[in-house]
Amino acid sequence: MSLLARTSRAAFSFLGSSQGTRALRLASTAAPPRGHHLHTAPRHLPASHLARPSTAPSFATRAMSSGNDQATTHVPPAPGVSKLYAAEPVAGRCALITGASSGIGQATAERLAELGCRLVVAARRKDRLDALATRLANDFGAKVHCVALDVTDVDAVMSLPSALPAEFADVSILVNNAGGALGTAKCTENNMDDVATMLDANVKGVVACTRAFSPGMVERGCGHVVNISSIAGVEWYGGGSVYCATKAAINAFTYASRKDLHDTPCKITSVSPGFVNTEFATVRFKGDKGKADNVYAGMKYGGPLLAEDIADNIVYALTRPGRVQVCDMLVYPTCQASARDIARE
Ligand SMILES: NC(=O)c1ccc[n+]([C@@H]2O[C@H](COP(=O)([O-])OP(=O)(O)OC[C@H]3O[C@@H](n4cnc5c(N)ncnc54)[C@H](OP(=O)(O)O)[C@@H]3O)[C@@H](O)[C@H]2O)c1
Repeated sequence: MSLLARTSRAAFSFLGSSQGTRALRLASTAAPPRGHHLHTAPRHLPASHLARPSTAPSFATRAMSSGNDQATTHVPPAPGVSKLYAAEPVAGRCALITGASSGIGQATAERLAELGCRLVVAARRKDRLDALATRLANDFGAKVHCVALDVTDVDAVMSLPSALPAEFADVSILVNNAGGALGTAKCTENNMDDVATMLDANVKGVVACTRAFSPGMVERGCGHVVNISSIAGVEWYGGGSVYCATKAAINAFTYASRKDLHDTPCKITSVSPGFVNTEFATVRFKGDKGKADNVYAGMKYGGPLLAEDIADNIVYALTRPGRVQVCDMLVYPTCQASARDIARE
C-alpha cells in the first residue's frame, strides 16, 4: 500500500487519476469555503470529530428507501467536498514553509494561502519569496512574512522563532521542504562538497527547524510537522547513495519523532514523492537543463507529478480531523512503479 495512515484509510477511495497521482486518491481534501477565517485548534473541538451529523441519513439509505428514479436523483458534490466527512479547516493557523521559493514549497504556500493560513515563507532567494508574498496577498489577501534563510545555518534557524513578528509567532504548521540532490556520482566518486551540502540541508536543516519550532507547538497544544522525504528514502538506487541516505534519515527522524510527540496533540507526517517536475533535476545536474529535461522525457500517462500534486497531499494530511494522523504518504506518477521503473513513450 502506498499510503499509510494510522486510522484514516476509510477516508480514501480508489478513483481514477486525471493528474497522474497513483494509488490512493484522497476522498476528502475539502477546503473550507473561501473567506472562512476561523481559527480552530485541532484535537480540541469535539464537533470536528463527528464524521457526519448523527441525524443525517446516509446516501446509501436514501437510495435504498426510495422507489423511483426522481427520488434518488443525487447531484454529486464537487471533488474534494463531502457531506459525509468533515475536513479540518486550517484557516487562521500560522504555517512556516521552508524552500518556498520554488517547486513543492511554493505550491504548498499557494494552497495554504488559499485556505486562509498566515504564512512564513523561507528560502535563500528572498527576491522570489517577496514576489510570491505579493502574489498571495493580491490573490488571497494572505498575510505572508518572508525570511531569507539558509536552513543549514543552525544559529539562524534556532533564533528564528523569537525573531518572527508577533503576528507570525504562533507557528503551528511546519513544512520541512527545503533540500534537494546534487549529482549522480557513485560512492567511489562522491564529491565531498556535494555530500556536505545534501547532509546539511536535507538532514541537519530538518532537525534544526523541528528543534526550533516544535517546543512552541507542544506548549500551545497545536502543531503539525510535515517532512518532505522521497522515494529515495525507501528505495536506494545507484548514483544516489548520499541523497538516498539523507531521505532515509528523514524517514527515521520522522518515525522516532512521532514517538517523542505521540503523547501531545502534535502530529508528524512524511510525504515521499516519486518524480516531480520542479527545479529539482536542474539543481541536481547543476544547471544542465538538457539533462534535467531528460529525466522527465516521454513519461507516459500524464507525465511526472507536478508540484501542486504534492502540495495537495500535504494539504490532505494537514486537514484531517484532530484524531487522524497521516504517518507516511508515498506518491508516484501513474507511470512509475519504483525509483527506476518508469513507463516512457
Ligand atoms: N522533485 C522531485 O522529483 C522530488 C522527489 C522527491 C522529493 N523531493 C524533495 O522535495 C523537496 C522540494 O524539492 P522541489 O522538487 O520542490 O525542488 P526545487 O524546486 O529545487 O525546490 C527546492 C527548494 O529548497 C530550497 N532550498 C534548498 N536548499 C536550501 C537551503 N540550504 N536553505 C533554504 N532553502 C533551501 C530552494 O530555495 P533556495 O534555493 O531559494 O534556497 C527551493 O525553494 C526537496 O526536499 C526534495 O528533496 C523532490
